Amino acid sequence: MSLFVSIEGFDGVGKTTQANLLNEHLSKEGIKSILVREPGGTIVAEKIREILITDSELSPITELLLFESARSDLVNKVIRKKLENNFVVITDRYLDSTLAYQGYGRDIDKSIVNELSKLSTSNLYPDITFLLDLNVEEANKRAGERKDINSKDQILKFENEENIFHQKIRKGFLEIAKNNNDRVNIIDASVDQNEISKLIIEKVSKKLNL
Ligand code: TYD
Repeated sequence: MSLFVSIEGFDGVGKTTQANLLNEHLSKEGIKSILVREPGGTIVAEKIREILITDSELSPITELLLFESARSDLVNKVIRKKLENNFVVITDRYLDSTLAYQGYGRDIDKSIVNELSKLSTSNLYPDITFLLDLNVEEANKRAGERKDINSKDQILKFENEENIFHQKIRKGFLEIAKNNNDRVNIIDASVDQNEISKLIIEKVSKKLNL
């Protein structure tokens, strides 16, 4: 049975750890699964990621279009195919990130962001989304600690923005969750990561009828 899972949230909330833990659990259970991250996951999308890492002068609109282009390539070349082959696809960020960062964070018209995301995914929405929520101070602290480890591969321009930008994104994510409460589960990211993982695994297992 296929299932499309997205893990969302602010920089430094522990999304990647949770995405990995879920993927490892499913593999152990003998369930076909794949983990992708946005932006990335195809040759084209990794090139776009490189542009986002290295060019500090992109306008918000250019950024938006780059994220959507990377997503379109990933959806077409990887996500759809894996879902057709009954995989569980776990994505570390997806279209909610674009609405939160480019819509709420960069103040681009949210209906335009939504239309572009519809277009780039051909209406492929996750079956279930986990929004890891944490207060901005704690998330920034964690993101700062992580920065030195593999900063070459990270898109740091958003992490380096001011606190008010981060507050806007957190508020955005919470609003998105409220407006899509049949899909989005808010998870308190301040608790132990094994506890969070257990919760995510429980919900995903239920969806898979395990
Ligand atoms: P990345 O280095 O992949 O780290 P992480 O996802 O673990 O935070 O950074 C991706 C950055 O790009 C992150 O700051 C969020 C931002 N982003 C957007 O602004 N819009 C998007 O549509 C996506 C997918 C990410």
